[in-house]
Amino acid sequence: MTKKISLIGAGQIGGTLAHLIAIKELGDIVLFDVAEGIAKGKALDIAQSSSVEGFKVSISGTSDYEDTKNSDVIIITAGVPRKPGMTRDDLLSINLKIIKQVADGIKKTSPNAFVICITNPLDVIVMALQKYSSLPKNKVVGMAGILDSSRFKYFLSEELNVHVKKIKSFVLGGHGDTMVPMLELTTIDGKPLKELIQSGRFKKETLNNIIERTRKGGSEIVKYLEKGSAYYAPASSGVEMAESYLKNEGKILPCAAYLNGEYGEKDIYAGVPVKIGNKGIEKVVEVKLSENEKKEFSHSVQSVRELFEAAKKIDPSL
Ligand code: APR
Repeated sequence: MTKKISLIGAGQIGGTLAHLIAIKELGDIVLFDVAEGIAKGKALDIAQSSSVEGFKVSISGTSDYEDTKNSDVIIITAGVPRKPGMTRDDLLSINLKIIKQVADGIKKTSPNAFVICITNPLDVIVMALQKYSSLPKNKVVGMAGILDSSRFKYFLSEELNVHVKKIKSFVLGGHGDTMVPMLELTTIDGKPLKELIQSGRFKKETLNNIIERTRKGGSEIVKYLEKGSAYYAPASSGVEMAESYLKNEGKILPCAAYLNGEYGEKDIYAGVPVKIGNKGIEKVVEVKLSENEKKEFSHSVQSVRELFEAAKKIDPSL
């Protein structure tokens, strides 16, 4: 049977998600937005590309949650981006309210969906979404790690002039500033990154610059765009998660997932490798961390906990 994918938020990422999902024919698409015209207009525009691209899926736009009923996958990008002058807590407060509305909208209509959240600040918003919606924790997951890993791999590939497909690596922890690149597990064309550094082919200083650039990957793009944030790579990353679920691929992907003792952390969402198949998150994969990685991961989780405390002050019902 044809799958149904609802995209809550039809902005820059939502529209790009719809286009990618249509071209890949992953299922029928419903674009939902409070600004109904944007959802309807983008749906029509993408549908009109079908005769060129050759895909056959239905695409519609709406502002009524009834139309998203019984979705197999829901991807959430509803929210506002941080604007100049806005504090972290201002952004959190606005997006928490939006995510509460979304949770109310989807929990009744699509109780069996696999829900992928992209709205920032990611780790805290996905945790709030799970609490507001009461949907199963293995079915509510955040997109961040694939994006951070993909930025890291791209920068390495450019620096070393190696095809990006030949670079294996991933990052752990919260999205952005505190993410932890898994250097011990990074290989370039089959060779451990460590060896390249020891042999002097790759300078430690260059690596540190790449890690820093990855951490600030989002802001670098915001500076160029001025009026928005990244959307192509975030959309590609969200689609990879949806595809692994819909096609039961069982891919191991770094995602913001609920931890219940894994990596020594409980009752918190954080970026870890997970197996995604048709049951949702089927397993949190625990990789061995070096002492330094453990320290960095725990620092990263601590900052998610602190931001969640700030969220609880804004909405004590959390
Ligand atoms: N319900 C549904 N849609 C909403 C709601 C709501 N309550 N509130 C806002 N929206 C919609 C807006 O109308 C807008 O079309 O969410 C959309 C967001 O789109 P953009 O502003 O273009 O943002 P985008 O670049 O897609 O990023 C969305 O993802 O990466 C994060 O930080 C980013 O939080 C932001 C989110």
